[in-house]
Amino acid sequence: MADAQSFDVLVVGGGPGGYVAAIRAAQLGFATACIDDWTRGGGKPALGGTCTNVGCIPSKALLQSSENYAHAGHSFAEHGIEIGKLSMNVGTMLARKDKVVGQNNDGIAYLFRKNKVAFFHGRGSFAGRAGERWTIGVDGARAATLSARHVIIATGSVPRALPGTPFDNVRVLDNAGALAMADVPKRLGVIGAGVIGLEMGSVWRRLGSEVTMLEALPTFLGAADEAVAKEALKQFTKQGLAIVLGAAISAVRVGKDDVTVDYNDAKGDAQRVSFDRLIVSIGRVPFTTGLGADKVGLALDARGFVEADAQCRTNLPNVFAIGDVVRGPMLAHKAEDEGIAVAERIAGQHGHVDFNTIPWVIYTSPEIAWVGRTEQQLRQEGVDYRAGSFPFAANGRARALGDTTGFIKFVADAKTDRILGMHAIGPWVSELIAEGVVAMEFGASSEDIARIVHAHPTLSEVTREAALAVDRRTLNL
Ligand code: FAD
Ligand code: NAI
Repeated sequence: MADAQSFDVLVVGGGPGGYVAAIRAAQLGFATACIDDWTRGGGKPALGGTCTNVGCIPSKALLQSSENYAHAGHSFAEHGIEIGKLSMNVGTMLARKDKVVGQNNDGIAYLFRKNKVAFFHGRGSFAGRAGERWTIGVDGARAATLSARHVIIATGSVPRALPGTPFDNVRVLDNAGALAMADVPKRLGVIGAGVIGLEMGSVWRRLGSEVTMLEALPTFLGAADEAVAKEALKQFTKQGLAIVLGAAISAVRVGKDDVTVDYNDAKGDAQRVSFDRLIVSIGRVPFTTGLGADKVGLALDARGFVEADAQCRTNLPNVFAIGDVVRGPMLAHKAEDEGIAVAERIAGQHGHVDFNTIPWVIYTSPEIAWVGRTEQQLRQEGVDYRAGSFPFAANGRARALGDTTGFIKFVADAKTDRILGMHAIGPWVSELIAEGVVAMEFGASSEDIARIVHAHPTLSEVTREAALAVDRRTLNL
């Protein structure tokens, strides 16, 4: 074996968790290397992991393209914009998405060069430990052996398949397949009405598919605020997404040209439905294949997550794990912030991630976003709270925009008025939620938000009015 190339910090995985951890470690003065195996056309590396390649970024690119198409078809006319017959070139849309992804891949490679992070393209696998240093082998075109005192595992997650129905990405699609359909299927089935199902279902529904979503649970979007979930279900149904709750899938048969799903509906009655394509989006599972966990005794839990404490420490000395491969929400910003915190802990600083203020955003139309606790959680916990909400329908900017769906709600402690949560559905709430996150981080009260000047006319005035609503003193309703 050739002598190992020596580093202070080795990061395995170049998704949002790993690449950000590597940059922060390098900023803190550590000799840092990142190993990632994602490959794009021509065998080129494709840094950014699931998020950049088949997740956050391409899904948002397609959501934007399909929303533009929907606007052109449905709302341009009321602005006086007259267009002839509308058509969609799916190939051009996909090429644009790939370009956006490529720009992000290249951007991360540039950031590595700028921050002097050494990059190794290939699969990294624990080889052993010599003294205080871990050794990791990299396979791939340029095999290497690396060593470091500190290792950060950021190997991410992969889609969960329905038992007995493997993904073929022809008829039965995972997230990668759902982002790459070369034409618009007439009948699209989606199993799982969660985040991916709703975002991908929305894309293809806007482009003309008849979309049926089969969700196992009897409640829709159970993690969201009840009023938000109710409004979302109403809007999505109105748009034409057929959402079947309480569906127990009993069989999936893949034919040459279609795929047939048998299920029992909420009443227990047997149903059969056929689709041209089926997206299965029933959650994701942690990915540690090929990492060599066994070789060094890295502990995994019963579900395959790398065991990690609140500080992201594993059972092995100086080995940390972050992002989708450990407990907690599978979100890019959660992975990033864990990566930053771990790099800072390695440097002896007090890296910190506040799990109470991690925002959730679903990029459908209307968008859905929340941070903190929901009313139903607070009721369960027996917390005395006050809630106030304000509709976009009473906001001038929303009317001018032509999108008055939804509302923003604050929940605040009844005694102290400290904000406990912000829940929103409507235009651009993906951006508006940041105000709630900042407010909660600073321990703000609803009165604080109510007393802050918000520019007029902006959607952010809805945020302020929702804060005023907590004290029953809205001005514009
Ligand atoms: P990953 O992004 O999965 O990256 C892990 C990387 O490590 C991959 O490149 C993998 O190939 C590599 N790897 C694994 N093992 C090895 C090894 N042994 N050696 C070398 N490399 C290895 N989250 C959001 O916050 N917002 C969104 O809008 C959003 N949209 C999404 C849309 C879709 C369709 C999907 C599927 C996910 C979405 N997510 C979103 C979730 C987000 O993508 C993940 O939470 C995030 O990517 C997790 O980051 P990570 O760094 O932990 O892992
Ligand atoms: P999810 O957990 O959001 O939703 C899965 C849904 O499938 C749930 O509603 C679940 O009840 C249902 N389900 C599970 N088994 C089923 C079965 N056998 N039959 C029918 N329904 C079943 O998972 P999803 O959508 O796969 O996404 C994975 C993760 O990726 C998300 O949890 C999220 O962390 C991340 N993500 C984040 C996005 C964002 O932040 N905007 C966008 C897309 C994904």
